[in-house]
Amino acid sequence: MPSKIDATLIPGDGIGPEIVDATVTVLDALGAPFRWDRQIAGLEGLQRAGDPLPAAALDSIKRTRLALKGPLETPSGGGYRSSNVRLREEFKLYANLRPARTLVPGGRFDNIDLVIVRENLEGLYIGHEHYIQIDDDPHAVAIATGVNTRQGSRRLLEFAFDHAIATGRKKVTIVHKANIMKALTGIFLDTGTELYERKYKGRFTLDSVIIDACAMKLVQNPWQFDVLVTTNLFGDILSDLAAGLVGGLGMTPGANIGADASIFEAVHGSAPDIAGKGVANPTALMLAAAMMLDHCRLQTQAKRLRDAIDATLNVDLIRTGDLGGRSTTAEYTRALVARIGAG
Ligand code: NAI
Repeated sequence: MPSKIDATLIPGDGIGPEIVDATVTVLDALGAPFRWDRQIAGLEGLQRAGDPLPAAALDSIKRTRLALKGPLETPSGGGYRSSNVRLREEFKLYANLRPARTLVPGGRFDNIDLVIVRENLEGLYIGHEHYIQIDDDPHAVAIATGVNTRQGSRRLLEFAFDHAIATGRKKVTIVHKANIMKALTGIFLDTGTELYERKYKGRFTLDSVIIDACAMKLVQNPWQFDVLVTTNLFGDILSDLAAGLVGGLGMTPGANIGADASIFEAVHGSAPDIAGKGVANPTALMLAAAMMLDHCRLQTQAKRLRDAIDATLNVDLIRTGDLGGRSTTAEYTRALVARIGAG
């Protein structure tokens, strides 16, 4: 039995506490060795501690360097700044890893199994934006500055290449727009090509594709891709596209990997429309927990969890409403625990 691993647990807002409880229940059934430090953040943090990202939560992650978190609510337009973006910046979570794998067959696309690795800190998302006034129009011109660095690109590309090798992937595709944004995305493409030639050649195949063509190819023939690695904005868009290919938000996990910590979460938000009703699909967060187990080199437990999810959905046919089923979160969780016990 491995020794205990300290980890921060943030239930979050909306359906967060429901899906986090379900996930902790299945992790306990697996015998996963996490020692949880429960912390609050998001709307709950604001209401109870006066900050959507309270110092206690930050201190906890600084100590454990590992977190599983539910969705955190962020108001649109005004209000407080996204706690998710603050977490990314605070812990330099430079790599966003989003696998998209078909779990329930019979959708528009079957047998999809690809991974998108998105640069999480640079590019057009750094928030350097401003307006220029002309005559009496203060917003006559809008300007955004994108910044990609050689060092930031190399760090992310190395992560993607190492991940491809560690998980037995055969092909990595760099997605860019270097024909138009020759400097901003050219640096990413050049760095990736140079890194491959120097350090990774022969260990997998490397190719590249322009973002617009990539979007079309993903919809026409997603099976031609294996690992896609790209800059911040393109990665944000493509990873939602890939989520759409495999049945939507309830099925898509994400990992934010950084120099100072790693944070695992579902891609979806707090789903306020179904919060408190006991019907949320906890699969995405459970798959994020499987990624967390992989990250902690507990691959056997990660595989048992993924196998139990496959069997519960496709053999027992126990599914929540978003997948066309009628099971509650609790019924689905009980079925998973039974599968884990039988496995
Ligand atoms: P959302 O992802 O919460 O919901 C979109 C739709 O998908 C809703 O109809 C919801 O019921 C459904 N849905 C989402 N997850 C589901 C699940 N596990 N099971 C069943 N149905 C599910 O997106 P929305 O409504 O735009 O955002 C709500 C809040 O979440 C906002 O405050 C937003 O800022 C926050 N958010 C937080 C994220 C995070 O913490 N990582 C990510 C995305 C949004």
